[in-house]
Amino acid sequence: MAKYIHVSVAWPYANGDLHVGHLAGAYLPADIFARYHRLRGNHVLMVSGSDSHGTPILLEAGKQGISARDLFEKYHERFLLVQQKVGISYDLFTHTDTENHHRVSQDFFTRLLERGYLKIETQTLLYSELEQRFLPDRFIEGTCYICGYNGARGDQCDNCGNLMETIKLINPRNRDNPQDQLVPRQTDHYFLALERFIEELNAYLEQHESHWRNHVYNFSRNFVKDLHSRPITRDIDWGIPIPLAGWEDKKMYVWFEAVIGYFSASVEWARNQGTPEAWKQWWYNPQSEIYNFIGKDNIPFHTIIWPAELLGVSGLYHDGPEPLQLPYDVPANEFMNIEGQKFSKSRHHAIWLADILERYQPDAVRYYVARAMPESTDSDFSWEGFYQSVNNELLAAWGNLVNRVTGFSYKRFAGAVPVIDALRPEDEALLARIEGGFETVGSLIERVKLREALGEAMALVREVNVYLDRREPWKRIKDDAADAARAIYTALRAIDNLKTLLAPWLPFSAQHVHHLLGYEGQVFGDQVIREYAEGERRHRALVYDPARQSGTWAKSTLQPGQPLREPAPLYTKLEDSIIPEERGRLGQPREERPIIVP
Ligand code: MF3
Ligand code: ZN
Repeated sequence: MAKYIHVSVAWPYANGDLHVGHLAGAYLPADIFARYHRLRGNHVLMVSGSDSHGTPILLEAGKQGISARDLFEKYHERFLLVQQKVGISYDLFTHTDTENHHRVSQDFFTRLLERGYLKIETQTLLYSELEQRFLPDRFIEGTCYICGYNGARGDQCDNCGNLMETIKLINPRNRDNPQDQLVPRQTDHYFLALERFIEELNAYLEQHESHWRNHVYNFSRNFVKDLHSRPITRDIDWGIPIPLAGWEDKKMYVWFEAVIGYFSASVEWARNQGTPEAWKQWWYNPQSEIYNFIGKDNIPFHTIIWPAELLGVSGLYHDGPEPLQLPYDVPANEFMNIEGQKFSKSRHHAIWLADILERYQPDAVRYYVARAMPESTDSDFSWEGFYQSVNNELLAAWGNLVNRVTGFSYKRFAGAVPVIDALRPEDEALLARIEGGFETVGSLIERVKLREALGEAMALVREVNVYLDRREPWKRIKDDAADAARAIYTALRAIDNLKTLLAPWLPFSAQHVHHLLGYEGQVFGDQVIREYAEGERRHRALVYDPARQSGTWAKSTLQPGQPLREPAPLYTKLEDSIIPEERGRLGQPREERPIIVP
């Protein structure tokens, strides 16, 4: 029976271009997972959007000298284009400044309030004498009171990963104006009573222990040990209004509402489809599975705070007895470093997606990032590694296999799949081995072991190469054309299977191979940018339209005699000069050029 799979992907702050860290941390694994489940015929709903509120937006808007709205709209548009270009197949990639998201977030707030999970507390926060306002936590830096790191931010320490209480930072300072005087002052805020969920959260975590990644599980269990109320409103003027009189000069804390985006975007998707109740198949269906793809710095928000919000509002917009579904798995990735060093926007030590997609094929980027995916430890993007993986694996093993087999068949078998009598046991054995991949690769993807799954699929590619080296149809054709035909037919069918097995990673190449093999139609549906209106306002979103998807996670039934299409190489070979060139770009300021989608 088809399953309901929700793929909730971390919402990027719309305050700068996306980089390979985003791709490796969350979007690519989510996309591989979603594409696989779509091929399986499951009901996939993959959503995300631009996180348009909070101090990260304000900080950058200040730097660029534009309004917060102009800033987020600029990057939102760039997010749509660059993700379309690299093939991240969201069913809906929207943003948090829609009327829909505001309303849903306010409904969460109101319901938590009505149920007694919110209470007003007086907080002592740091007030800036210079700026005459409470300084948002991200504008404050100081020494971490847990690990002693001197660059901790007011909200979180990047060294030990702990969330910070700004007031406890040692030697706090205004990060933009070190001469500023920060003085403690009192202010009222709504707090979410997280401690009231301790038992339910522990039960929830224990229930999922066996299939969660260890570091995610352990971190979360530790976090619950010391769970206390946290403020969910802020003294800030950019964000979602608090739906209560007298609170006009405060806004919702960005993390409180951004996670609600997984839910609100599902509601928006259903409405856009003309089936306004359809989102319930994921959120109120006890059989559905919700997966949150995020980076490790976001773990507590997804395994503790978001589940607490869901527990607190359960039953929202629904009459039935079913509770709201909590994340089934939160397969957080670690970080991807660049040439051995941490990503740094300020030092320009980054690889921007918009830039590399100008120079390299999307599947080449996807392949290398998937190979080096930081699934269990931090990993490294190196240009040497990129060059080697693309040329020696993707191109040499897979691209060349496709080229030489389709090319030979096209030339020597009259532009068609060879017509054969019967296969030999050796041929049958190869096909059986490759077809076994639907089970082995599939079950690894289902358990979100994507690196291992890709390794398995590529091992199958190499087996076809070994088979061909043994069978040598290019030589056999001279003395035994029928036997050469068997080997080529077998290899073509293996390629047809591998096209599908690799499709979650290499969707563009899968389509190319599908076309060469003479098929009509598309492996996947279309990714389109659509515009939606809400009253006076419009917003643009990236949407996966499944109408034309014909691919399925199933064995090839390639027919002898099927006409092939004229071969064209899958991949461009890289020159080794790209290694010094690309290294030379690291550390250099860059220009944000327009993103052209072919
Ligand atoms: N905007 C946050 C970041 O870039 C992630 C938000 S994930 C969400 O770190 F779930 F809260 F949306
Ligand atoms: Zn720390």
